[in-house]
Amino acid sequence: MSAPAPKWYASEDAPVPKQTRKSLRPQKLRQSLVPGTVLILLAGRFRGKRVVYLKSLEDNTLLVSGPFKVNGVPLRRVNARYVIATSTKVSLDGLNLSKFNTAYFLREKSTLAQKKKSEGDFFGEGGKKVIKAERIEDQKVVDKALITEIKKTPLLKQYLATTFSLKSGDKPHLMKF
Ligand SMILES: *[C@@H]1O[C@H](CO)[C@@H](O)[C@H](O)[C@H]1NC(C)=O
Repeated sequence: MSAPAPKWYASEDAPVPKQTRKSLRPQKLRQSLVPGTVLILLAGRFRGKRVVYLKSLEDNTLLVSGPFKVNGVPLRRVNARYVIATSTKVSLDGLNLSKFNTAYFLREKSTLAQKKKSEGDFFGEGGKKVIKAERIEDQKVVDKALITEIKKTPLLKQYLATTFSLKSGDKPHLMKF
């Protein structure tokens, strides 16, 4: 009688077909990545966009901004696994990023969830509006300081506005940016 194979071996034992991955798997982002570095987003709604890395958050995501006024990417959190760091940097002088943390981005979600629970609830609706207005204002403040710095480098604004596209077969982790 043979003992049943432990379940956790199952996937190891099965022959793994050697297939080319569809998703991009860039190298793990270096811990030393400096805020201000221009990143290229490899996944999500803004794939191919160049953005400015502002700071890392407690949930290991990276806070970035397009800036929004330059290429339409708002202040948002991105997964460090799906970005490429370029050698281009923007000075973050004049930016106060202390208010941005994981909770800042979760507030909006929880307010939306609350609203769903009590549809038409005045408080939920009002709360959402307040957060939205704050987000727009924060975006303006961050982008203004960022664009002031960007303008100091010729062509940097145009560079950030240009979408990066990978041809199939390109290996982004082996490219030099
Ligand atoms: C940065 O902003 C926070 C509020 O978000 C404020 O408390 C703090 O004083 C500001 N720091 C500087 C250096 O302006």
